[in-house]
Amino acid sequence: MRIRTDFVLRDIGQLLTMDGNGSAGIGLLTHAALAVSDGKVVWTGSDKDLETYCTLQSDTEIVSAGGSVVTPGFVDSHTHPLFGATRQDEFAMRAAGATYQEIAAAGGGILNSVKRTRSASAAVLEENMKHHLSIMLSNGTTTVEAKSGYGLDLITELRCLEIAGKVAGEVPQTIIPTFMGAHEVPVEFKGRPDEYIDYLISEVNPRVKEQGIAEFVDIFCEKGVFTPEQTARYLAASTDQGFALKIHADEFYDTGGTAVAVKAGATSADHLLSISEENIHLIAESKTVATLLPGTALFLNKPFPPGRKLLDAGASVALATDFNPGSCFCDSMPLVVNLAVCQCGFTVEEALVSATVNGAAALGLEKHKGRLVKGFDADFVVWNCADFRTIPYHLGNPDVAVVYCTGLKVYST
Ligand code: NIG
Ligand code: FE
Repeated sequence: MRIRTDFVLRDIGQLLTMDGNGSAGIGLLTHAALAVSDGKVVWTGSDKDLETYCTLQSDTEIVSAGGSVVTPGFVDSHTHPLFGATRQDEFAMRAAGATYQEIAAAGGGILNSVKRTRSASAAVLEENMKHHLSIMLSNGTTTVEAKSGYGLDLITELRCLEIAGKVAGEVPQTIIPTFMGAHEVPVEFKGRPDEYIDYLISEVNPRVKEQGIAEFVDIFCEKGVFTPEQTARYLAASTDQGFALKIHADEFYDTGGTAVAVKAGATSADHLLSISEENIHLIAESKTVATLLPGTALFLNKPFPPGRKLLDAGASVALATDFNPGSCFCDSMPLVVNLAVCQCGFTVEEALVSATVNGAAALGLEKHKGRLVKGFDADFVVWNCADFRTIPYHLGNPDVAVVYCTGLKVYST
């Protein structure tokens, strides 16, 4: 029986299906076509075989890609888009020689964003998030994880998650909200991180669960923020409460956060700029995805994460932006893919798999997102180029031509 279609993209010069075959998993098809029904991919193959396998009805929309490259939309599995104000003042202070930690100690950093997020109106929070989601879309990103974590009190955290849930229903992308009440110790609990963890576990997490918007919790395990012990305690309690887990681990110092993540069964451990050799092997042998955020290393002038070592050890490595107002004000997955290739030892093919397939795995969406194979969501990008290697090669200007989410055209240049 031939396959019913309601949308067909023909004359694709290079289709990266990411089906796991071919050069490092990109599943490259040339002179290809892609058929969609009800927002899902139903067939991919050689353009000349399209009519053998698919029924083109009178109302099937048929579009030519004009020989261009088509890839799955990027899955940006780590962002912080719920904030009240930007922090370009701190950026300028860093440029003049201050460190990220010095600025935080002087009242800047995450706690600065907390002040400005608590006092921001819902309209401002919503506008900031939507503005950056639209830039992400123009960079080819069709799935975005969105963390709270600039509220650090019950009311503001719930309010931010509620806004994320509302925005999710109003933008074309798929949005995955994450609760990050454990982003920092708020002023009310200064010097009492254990009590703040107790408060999160007993008062806030249950309300977040009841609200039903966030599937994941995340915690910043770092020298001066939460210790590995506090992190392990929070993650164990969150598991019992029914949350899936993420962790900011081994970013500035090797505190062993990666080992805590693996032991807790976290879906991903993120940053890993300072991960030890031992923990590279530990995460490689686990199911936890190693999410690298090279934009943050660039923005803070830190050493880049050890991508090649993680890949060689066999880890599942995802790439994401870490978009946030402090340590990485960057919405661009094409730039992140470039940094992975130019600074972290990825091949172009590995970087594209990490930014799609493995990003989806970092969100538990590996059966729906990140590939263009039968049954997956038809989220894809038509690029203004004929060779997929142009995507990271063209530094600073993404060659995005058209973006589709669930088979619908949602952006074009
Ligand atoms: O992922 N590392 C912790 N949190 C953010 C930074 C947040 C900020 O500076 O506002 C990050 O880089
Ligand atoms: Fe982050």
